[in-house]
Amino acid sequence: MKALAWQGDHLLILNQTRLPFEEQYRAAYTYTEVAEAIKNMEIRGAPAIGAAAAYGFALGALNYEGEVEGLTEHMDKVRTVLAATRPTAVNLFWALRKMEDKYRELQKQDLVQIREALVAEAEQIAEDDRRMNKLIGKFGNELVPENARILTHCNTGTLATVEYGTALGIIRAAHEAGKKIHVYVGETRPFLQGARLTTWELLQEGIPHTLITDSMAGYLMQQGKIDMVIVGADRIAANGDTANKIGTYSLAVLAAAHEIPFYVAAPTSTIDLKIAGGEDIPVEERDGKEVRMFMGVKVVPDEVQVYNPAFDITPAKYIAGIITEKGIISPPYSVNLVRMLVK
Ligand code: MRU
Repeated sequence: MKALAWQGDHLLILNQTRLPFEEQYRAAYTYTEVAEAIKNMEIRGAPAIGAAAAYGFALGALNYEGEVEGLTEHMDKVRTVLAATRPTAVNLFWALRKMEDKYRELQKQDLVQIREALVAEAEQIAEDDRRMNKLIGKFGNELVPENARILTHCNTGTLATVEYGTALGIIRAAHEAGKKIHVYVGETRPFLQGARLTTWELLQEGIPHTLITDSMAGYLMQQGKIDMVIVGADRIAANGDTANKIGTYSLAVLAAAHEIPFYVAAPTSTIDLKIAGGEDIPVEERDGKEVRMFMGVKVVPDEVQVYNPAFDITPAKYIAGIITEKGIISPPYSVNLVRMLVK
């Protein structure tokens, strides 16, 4: 089970819109197919989007049929198309920047060498993600008590990354360490990443879990059934404000009201020091039909007006710690994020 796999001349993408009942793969031979798969959410989750875009960039060079003199113009177009897919997860722009920097280093080389080096750079980005997730799991596991009942939101597992996961990676690490944990999974309307994807991963791993609708979280906390909340992130601003899947902010406020620690897990590639605070993070708004429908079935008439922001912003003050591959960052984030990044 992997979200994506490089196959030498194409990227194999597990179509996450069809899970959990159908395992359908898309073989993307062109950068436009990769861009389409990111936009349609066949592949989603900040680190997976970043890695897919890196392979998409490499495919852009592989697809090119003109003279080497025209390659830079073509690669600019490739970058623009991939960057226009989804606005919130900064990992997309981080990965494209790395690919672009590599490309600029290679400009004196011939097309064959450029292609090889870009594929190798994308492979490196993917490999780094695997490695970082394992470290996030290791550091995060230190925070998980024996018998912990953990609430998580959206999908932050293997499907959302190259492998292992961030918040779900910590849950995996705690389970692998033999802790008798229980995971409460918020279903994550409207796209149902929690219900369709996280439970699918937890079932395969044999990690005990219970699915709840998003509106049940407060009641569970009030009943004393949650010991900690761990979520992922799509972009963390310099002051620690964090964009993550819609519904995350509500969980953070509820956790604060019930004095339950609320943690964010993400690789440092999700930290965007160019953004001072959460109000400047671009939040994607998606098609209203995702809200009007439930698993492809229309639940309200088309004329009902809906609002469908895909992410929300959790203010830093609600976050007990940010778990990265470099270690756990504690408040005050405006000081400690920079300190950790230069480490
Ligand atoms: O819209 P999605 O499914 O791409 O949103 C995913 C999330 O919000 C995740 O929590 C985040 O990307 C971290 S994934 C390790």
